[in-house]
Amino acid sequence: MTKGWNVYVTRRIPEAALELLRAETCFDMNPDDRVLTREELLTNVQSRDGVLCLLTDTIDEEILTAARDAVIFANYAVGFNNVDVRAATAKGILVTNTPGVLTDATADMAWALLFSAARRIVESDKYNRAGNFKGWGPVHFLGLDITGKTLGVVGAGRIGTAFAKRAKGFDMKILYHDVAPNRPFEDTCGGTFVDLDTLLAESDFISLHVPLIPETTHLIGAREFKMMKKTALLINTARGPVVDELALVEALRSGEIWGAGLDVYEWEPKLSPGLQELGNVVLAPHTASATLETRTNMGIIAVRNLLAGLKGEMPPNCVNPEASPKKNNS
Ligand code: GLV
Ligand code: GLV
Repeated sequence: MTKGWNVYVTRRIPEAALELLRAETCFDMNPDDRVLTREELLTNVQSRDGVLCLLTDTIDEEILTAARDAVIFANYAVGFNNVDVRAATAKGILVTNTPGVLTDATADMAWALLFSAARRIVESDKYNRAGNFKGWGPVHFLGLDITGKTLGVVGAGRIGTAFAKRAKGFDMKILYHDVAPNRPFEDTCGGTFVDLDTLLAESDFISLHVPLIPETTHLIGAREFKMMKKTALLINTARGPVVDELALVEALRSGEIWGAGLDVYEWEPKLSPGLQELGNVVLAPHTASATLETRTNMGIIAVRNLLAGLKGEMPPNCVNPEASPKKNNS
């Protein structure tokens, strides 16, 4: 193999991954630590054999058409709702993601948000820094018990399972919902399969672990918030549009639910009006997979997928294996 492949990387990823890429390709990379504009993306994907893209790049039909020489778009994320996979498949372009490596980091983050919101860590930290702590108070910053409560897991895939597994030490009752009962989930976590409405009505903590697809868009909205307990806490580390964010702001403001912990937003990176003024929500900037180890491993996996695609092999994490390799690549 020659080092001849012409690759584009849409934003700097960890060095260990770039080293792997450097060994086998000539690649160009967005020099700035920011999302490319649409025009920059359109220009830079032209004449490339492969592209390493991020969840913040919208890879639609027009981009895929501009990238007519590419055999693969390797997405640096487990979620791939940013890519029009159907259009890619029609053009014979492989699309890959990075499952597995960020499962634990994301499950950990869902718990971090749950604890932070339930025990009001961010609010009380701010209070303390502002010099307001004048001594222990019997009713200061009362939060919610976690031990012994009911955990509602929406989406019983890898991340949902890892999240639920961590509840064991807290003696929680686990309810879960997915398109169908999931034996491995039940064997690992001892959860009970219920319909979504039952889960919403009975859970103290509700955590979302579904992919963003048409069926899960606004899965949680005004109707669903009404069904939840007044003391319920919603955790979202999946994708913003799974929740109707304006309805969430209203539910948090009116006390329909007790609080929320969010890592993702409906109009990311914008926050819905009113969200940042609320004290009962913890707002992480889409950092669930942001650990040194995980982001490096995601990079290595994305590069391995990319290299396999360039070599004409089936990449380990191809989401559209039915996209036949391009025959006419000149
Ligand atoms: C992060 O949101 C990912 O999908 O990897
Ligand atoms: C994603 O990794 C999932 O299946 O939860």
